[in-house]
Amino acid sequence: MNHKIAVMASGKGSNLQVILDAIAQGQCAAQVEVVISNKADAGALQIARNAGVPRVLYLNPKEYDSRAAYDLACAKEIKKSNCALIVLAGYMRILSPEFIHTFPHQIINIHPSLLPAFKGADAVGDALKAGVKVSGCTVHRVNEELDSGEILAQACVPVLDSDSWHDLHQRIQEKEHAIYVEVIHQLLTSKRVGDASHH
Ligand code: GRF
Repeated sequence: MNHKIAVMASGKGSNLQVILDAIAQGQCAAQVEVVISNKADAGALQIARNAGVPRVLYLNPKEYDSRAAYDLACAKEIKKSNCALIVLAGYMRILSPEFIHTFPHQIINIHPSLLPAFKGADAVGDALKAGVKVSGCTVHRVNEELDSGEILAQACVPVLDSDSWHDLHQRIQEKEHAIYVEVIHQLLTSKRVGDASHH
């Protein structure tokens, strides 16, 4: 079975780091073939280089005429590596329908809330504003509707009255790091990758 994965990330890359560490420790049956970022200074790129990921790419969105053209370039790079799974780890761009259709049921994301609550770019801030007492994170498949694909795993954390954005995000990230690796491992070692019967 193909265990190759692509990771797309825009930020500091702590989820990528945890995935790479779990692979190195034999706890996750994935092989990170390519890491793509839309940000030249993303921590994720450096993490990937340090870990010896075969292909570490920065693609500048400004060099493409449209979202679809940019996504097509990303898709081409992912196809070169023949990846079974595309893991979004803090990838802060909305994917075009063209990209999503190129990889049916093969794209997963981690989102810092208990979906379907608090979809969108600032789930942590929105949860604090709403005054919820519990939040968490969700691993889900990516479909055309933002943060709305099939839920694969969730974990919850308490929200404390004293929480700053950073406090809550950090508590959520600890759970992200546990559940994302587990889902990736499960998907790659079962028949669920690309399995349309789950929709
Ligand atoms: C995570 O909180 C994830 O839920 C969100 O973006 C953040 C990425 O964090 N989608 P990192 O770059 O993996 O540290």
